[in-house]
Amino acid sequence: MVYSRSPLTAVDADVLILPWFDDDAASAVAGVDAATGGELQRALGTKELSGRLYEVFLAATAGSSWPAKRIAFAGAGRASAFTGDIARKLAAAVGLSLKQRRVSRAAFAVRVGTGSGVDEKEISQAVAEGLTLSEFNVGSYKTSDVPPGRAPAWTVVSATTDCSSAVQRGRLLGECSNLAREMANEPGNTLTPREFAKRSEGIVAGTGLSFDVLDEKQIEALGMGMLLGVAKGSSEPPRVMVIRHDPPGAPATPVLGLVGKGITFDTGGISIKPAEGMERMKDDMAGGAAVVCAMRAIAALKAPIKVIAVVPTTENMPGGRAVKPGDILKSAEGKTVEVINTDAEGRLILGDGLWYARKLGATHLVDVATLTGAIVTALGKITSGLFGTPQTWADVVHRVADRAGDRVWQMPLFDDYRDQIKSDIADLMNTGGRAAGSVTAALFLKEFAGGLPWVHLDIAGTAWAEDSKPYLPKGPSGVAVRTLAELAFTSAEWS
Ligand code: BES
Ligand code: MN
Ligand code: ZN
Repeated sequence: MVYSRSPLTAVDADVLILPWFDDDAASAVAGVDAATGGELQRALGTKELSGRLYEVFLAATAGSSWPAKRIAFAGAGRASAFTGDIARKLAAAVGLSLKQRRVSRAAFAVRVGTGSGVDEKEISQAVAEGLTLSEFNVGSYKTSDVPPGRAPAWTVVSATTDCSSAVQRGRLLGECSNLAREMANEPGNTLTPREFAKRSEGIVAGTGLSFDVLDEKQIEALGMGMLLGVAKGSSEPPRVMVIRHDPPGAPATPVLGLVGKGITFDTGGISIKPAEGMERMKDDMAGGAAVVCAMRAIAALKAPIKVIAVVPTTENMPGGRAVKPGDILKSAEGKTVEVINTDAEGRLILGDGLWYARKLGATHLVDVATLTGAIVTALGKITSGLFGTPQTWADVVHRVADRAGDRVWQMPLFDDYRDQIKSDIADLMNTGGRAAGSVTAALFLKEFAGGLPWVHLDIAGTAWAEDSKPYLPKGPSGVAVRTLAELAFTSAEWS
């Protein structure tokens, strides 16, 4: 991806993408109408070009002096509503369609919507992210279909201010999101816990991050009985990845602790899931992948604070030695848990993971997990559930997520719900019944956050797109990577 400040009259590309607002007159961008030989004016007249979001109108520049061969007017909606989020989606949508058309060189001309209050740097970064996100291919195991189109070589053009570092940042964040999508897309037979750790090591290699993997013996020595309990049904051993970003000169505190759910396949265990749709449970490590890939971005972009990532990873399988309903597990932090449903495994491994992040010195925690079907019922496939305390910390993560284009909505953590996870025989039960299922899951996690500022993102609905959108094809979405990475740059706003 190249950044350029050339005027549009000098941009050389097969296609020049120009965002078009719904109330733009032909004169909104100087010289384009003439460059298209009046085609712009004509299309506006017939409403072939309306500026409606994601609608693309292509016009040739034949006979003009513009080196760009065609102009793709990309519907950008209302100028005053043109946020970074919309710009990112628009760039991804146009990127996807140009990839399909096998365009080899495309330039995106950044425009800022009048009245939007968003600056050119923010739009440029979002455009770089969106174009990069469009490069992701889901069909990595196809051998017989026509290969998917190669993504064009991109140029991002913003003539007014210097946005080169914003574009580089967006490119990197997009690439790290795509790495997380690739891992979430891997099937359970290739991406076992050991393989997940191996690939993650490759992803952080060369970035200056430290990378350690705990094996089953070390996990046992630490007393992580909840993680071991989940792992018992599988012949694949569990792992815990620990990744540290410790930049020279960073203050002793705060230390951001990121914890990701790394279930490489969730059968449900003895409380086995129905067959229908079970194949989707290969992405039950999407939260873990988001944490690993965010760490790569955090290091590459040189976040100024210490960050510690902990990713517990295991399969959840039925088997002769598998954990059974009624079994009691002892967590590393000391609390005992009665397993009611072995399919509520995510909270078990995360509980030990949160404890370990604290033990390693985290002062502010965020965990990310495909945790509950209940959050899909509550918020659907568009919005992740955000839970957390204190409110100031929840607000920080919420604001960062909004900017990063990861839609979240806060859910309650009222103490009254806690009764639902009280056990008769042990400290806690691992399920709290159907009512408010995502809330009781979050309250379970809160037990292991040790009173630190803590946020939990439930991405069960958002990690995988079920039906394709103009800006997002079916498959893994890479949710939370950009939020976690950007969060590491906002410590001045934490209290
Ligand atoms: N990995 C699932 C949650 C999930 C469901 C992710 C749908 C993506 C799509 C999790 O481990 C799980 O099985 N949760 C149970 C908890 C229940 C047994 C309390 C659920 O949500 O049904
Ligand atoms: Mn489960
Ligand atoms: Zn799960």
